[in-house]
Amino acid sequence: MIVIGARGRLRVTSTGKIEKGFSGLRVAAFEGRRAKEMEQLILKQGGVPLLAPSMAEAPLSQNVSALEFGEKLLRHEVAVVLFLTGVGVQSLFQVLGTRFPKEELVAELQRITVVARGPKSVEALRGLGVPVSIAVPDPGTWREILEIVDNSDRFPPLQGLTVAIQESGVPNFELLEELKTRGARVLQVPVYRWTLPPDTKPLEEAILALIDGQCEVVLFTNSMQVSHLFQIAEQKSLSAPLRKALSRVVVGSIGPLCSQSLRDQGVNVDVEPQEPRMAQLVAEIAAAPCQKLQSKKTRVVPWEETPSRAAVQFEHEPAPRLPDRLESSAFMRACRRLPTEYTPVWLMRQAGRYMAEYREIRARNSFLELCKNSDLAAEVTVTAAHRLGVDAAIIFADILLIVEPMGLGLRFEKGDGPVIDGIIRGPSDVNRLREVEPQESLSFVFEAIRKTRAGLKSDIPLIGFAGAPFTLASYIVEGGASKSYRHTKSLMYRDPGAWHDMMASIARSLVKYLNGQVAAGAQAVQLFDSWVGCLSPEDYRDFVLPHTKHVIDGIEAGVPVINFSTGTSGYLELVRQAGGDIIGVDWRVDLAEAWARIGYEVGIQGNLDPLVLLSDAKTIEQRARAILETAEHRPGHIFNLGHGILPETPVENVVALVEAVHEISSVK
Ligand code: CP3
Repeated sequence: MIVIGARGRLRVTSTGKIEKGFSGLRVAAFEGRRAKEMEQLILKQGGVPLLAPSMAEAPLSQNVSALEFGEKLLRHEVAVVLFLTGVGVQSLFQVLGTRFPKEELVAELQRITVVARGPKSVEALRGLGVPVSIAVPDPGTWREILEIVDNSDRFPPLQGLTVAIQESGVPNFELLEELKTRGARVLQVPVYRWTLPPDTKPLEEAILALIDGQCEVVLFTNSMQVSHLFQIAEQKSLSAPLRKALSRVVVGSIGPLCSQSLRDQGVNVDVEPQEPRMAQLVAEIAAAPCQKLQSKKTRVVPWEETPSRAAVQFEHEPAPRLPDRLESSAFMRACRRLPTEYTPVWLMRQAGRYMAEYREIRARNSFLELCKNSDLAAEVTVTAAHRLGVDAAIIFADILLIVEPMGLGLRFEKGDGPVIDGIIRGPSDVNRLREVEPQESLSFVFEAIRKTRAGLKSDIPLIGFAGAPFTLASYIVEGGASKSYRHTKSLMYRDPGAWHDMMASIARSLVKYLNGQVAAGAQAVQLFDSWVGCLSPEDYRDFVLPHTKHVIDGIEAGVPVINFSTGTSGYLELVRQAGGDIIGVDWRVDLAEAWARIGYEVGIQGNLDPLVLLSDAKTIEQRARAILETAEHRPGHIFNLGHGILPETPVENVVALVEAVHEISSVK
């Protein structure tokens, strides 16, 4: 008998008989497409299945990458195709069939090297009449693929060749990087992506059930399930209690990728079956769960006796402690001026127009739409960080987003940069400036931070940011970019009272906004004072320093603050007085000299001229080396540019810089 439990839409079934295998233990699983099959396997072993679908397949409706692949293939520009999944092979051919004759595609694939992972893709390709040159042996991770790339006689030398990869779900960054280091041009062909299911209620309820202790065994069959489960938990601020709950139960996982994702989340894997099959996983766990459970001291109670959710006060859990992997990352250690194995590097404006992945998303959305769509903002942030191999991500947003909730208008006009409507020129304007309540008006930024945190590797810290009071003031007074800062300085000199009122109001808003970013999941914050260098030292001290200091002093204790400005080499000592654990400097000052001036009790960030990235790998390496030498590997140096990456920068030069910094600074 199968009983559907009364827990909302979460499916709870019971055989009523509990004599073998799991002996009535409750077993949670997150299958979508194969939910029925999983349910049967658990039932067969005497378990009570609790199934919460965690993923849905989302066909890319306008699959530009797939069609681009088809064109390149028929132009004989592709030398190798790597098919990763059977479903992917079929979807790809469906998309291609809308534009190209099937016979031509097959004829071309017969000519080139076709690599297939797993029996399903081999079968799917054979069905289409495409001979498979090489089949990747189990378990089919990027390691086995590389083994073939390096050692199979049937695999051509990769230098200069285009290798297309039919991707399933998230790209495999390790594989992409390894192929690139072997000289290949890699063409990513995402055919479908896994998204959250349209209805995430069952997942939410499964999380609550786990936290409630209503489950003894949890099964994961791919890494996306882990990522989606934690994404939902993160949204409900339940990741810490979920992690704790998972430490109390028996966790089964299929495949090294899935186990790695669990470990990245701080979850121990108890059982990983010999063979990466669902049936094997269920059987192996069913054979030994009681002993495992004993060691975990879990009380196995009949379903009816489980404590109610209301009795579990997870709302009062202490705030999640920063997971160790983040705290021990090179970036966080450098923020705390602790020694690191290599100098951490990230780059201002690392996600932007210079990157093809960004331009593709940007082509379909205006810049502001992109900032306000938390899914896209998170995707852009995570893609840039992974693609470049940097040691920290910066949330995709803009310093000007805060001007809208201040009561002003914001537009980005093509070619003209930002335009602010309703500008502030005198005391009456200052009086109508609203103080920002970011939890409502800027919730999309917090949402993007939560999603980004869930999507980033667990050892990559996320930086939140805001414009510093002066730079924001310059935009709302000038109405946009400026060369002379005529109106800003006029207000400052003519009406210091109004000026200070405005700066104090901005500073109060910024404290709330930045602390909101920290609460949402940012590990550190940076203040951008991009234009403050237009002031004299005295004006900085009298009109800016107290307000910037107010913001920095207001950031939650223990959260590193990077105080970045440009053009301030004439008064770095004053910038330092405004505060910050790390002072960001531009290239107009020698880094060693700057650090000596601000003192070694603070760290330093910088300071390559972004224009160097328009040169070549050799020059970039030389310039990076020179900066690293001036820093002498003193703890507290974070490598960065002196200002943002320019749109015309070749992406490979940026990758070359990151690699050079890691290579040169590594403690050997
Ligand atoms: O660093 C990152 O990758 C995170 C994203 C980020 C952006 N802007 C995205 C962006 C960050 C940290 C900023 C900060 C920012 N925004 C600053 C301070 C840093 C600096 O460069 O001085 C300033 C002054 C702004 C204001 C702003 N936003 C300007 C002057 C522009 C350029 C206008 C233009 O058309 O070139 C923007 C737009 C902007 N912000 C883009 C991006 C990726 C380009 C928008 C596009 O896609 O068209």
